[in-house]
Amino acid sequence: MSSSVRGANYHNDSLMIGFSDLRKLSNERPLVITGGRGVFVIDERGRDYIEAVSSFYCAALGFSEQELVEAAIRQMRALPFYPSASHRTVPVVMELAEKLQAIAPMPKARVAFATTGSEANDSLIKFLWYANGYSGKPRRRKVITRYGSYHGGTIAMTALGGGSALHRSFGIPMDDSIFVSHPTGAAPGEGEEAYVDRLAEEVRQAIEKAGPETVGAFFAEPISTAAGWSVPPKGYFQKIKKVCDEYGVRFFLDEVVTGFGRTGHMWGAQAFGVTPDCITSAKGMSSAYQPISAVLMSEDFYAGLEKGSDENGWFAHSGTYHAHPVPAAVALKTLEIYEKRQIVKHVQSLLPLWQKSIKVLEDHPLVATTRNFGLGGAVEFKGPVQNLSHI
Ligand SMILES: Cc1ncc(COP(=O)(O)O)c(C=O)c1O
Repeated sequence: MSSSVRGANYHNDSLMIGFSDLRKLSNERPLVITGGRGVFVIDERGRDYIEAVSSFYCAALGFSEQELVEAAIRQMRALPFYPSASHRTVPVVMELAEKLQAIAPMPKARVAFATTGSEANDSLIKFLWYANGYSGKPRRRKVITRYGSYHGGTIAMTALGGGSALHRSFGIPMDDSIFVSHPTGAAPGEGEEAYVDRLAEEVRQAIEKAGPETVGAFFAEPISTAAGWSVPPKGYFQKIKKVCDEYGVRFFLDEVVTGFGRTGHMWGAQAFGVTPDCITSAKGMSSAYQPISAVLMSEDFYAGLEKGSDENGWFAHSGTYHAHPVPAAVALKTLEIYEKRQIVKHVQSLLPLWQKSIKVLEDHPLVATTRNFGLGGAVEFKGPVQNLSHI
């Protein structure tokens, strides 16, 4: 047992961690994890736990993948840091961009790196406003998002998050956010097709109400962990994309969780048969061994950024740690491993067992229902259910 383990008289007045009860954090020692082995993590008392959600749906290759550790060490020795900005970069970053372009769910994707999922999402909305500003559509700033969704912790992403706890108490500005329903299930007797039509119509009405000339994008997770892994009904994204196309509204997917095989396809976009204008990615991109995220943009969308850059002589957006060479080397190795081990095929091979295992839980008296799609799922317990139709 570690000598740093503290017991009942624990008092913490130095550390603050989010998504926690801060009073409890002062008085009660949090769970302290000191090691990892495969799908297990180990706490300071030596107890091991199966990390059933891969720690925030991140550690796709488990907690002890030595090839990733070695990739980081090699890059640290070769060049531990150099920024990718001001017309400079490093080879590993170029290689990673090429690799992502090759597997992107849209042709000839252009790749911009950031550090976290929130930051990639934030950058994407900033890019949207920029591109629209230089394409004669400066008023197209509003973004349609869904109740229950989660897109990150920056001010802009909190504003686009669909849970009231995220923004009400922080006084987050919401002027550019438009909320529509999450696909949580058809009404009794409605039928799937009619349900999808209703949801697509809701998006149309939202655009009409806001004024089509003010709406820039529709932004959604292919499947939202925050909204309880509600699986979109057949045709949902296609019909919404059709409405977006009609109104010149960009269609963006937040693939921070759903990328790299989680859905049994490389991307959620492919799982649901839709081609987005842009996606964002993080987490599984490096199996989260190093922080790195990316925005993948269609050629057509990127042309708007180039236009603005032509007018200004440069594109005034970057970050010191964007495309940091060490996370980039780890991400590149992660993608190589996914390829070598045929990770998407592997996920597909696990699905029958996973589906059977989660379904069995429905026999439990406390369980109302279960859902699953790809290697993800949710168990809904009997009792009050969170209402996703308001914020
Ligand atoms: C769908 C989705 N988007 C964005 C984010 C934010 O990513 P990060 O925590 O890396 O900022 C998360 C985090 O869990 C997420 O689940």
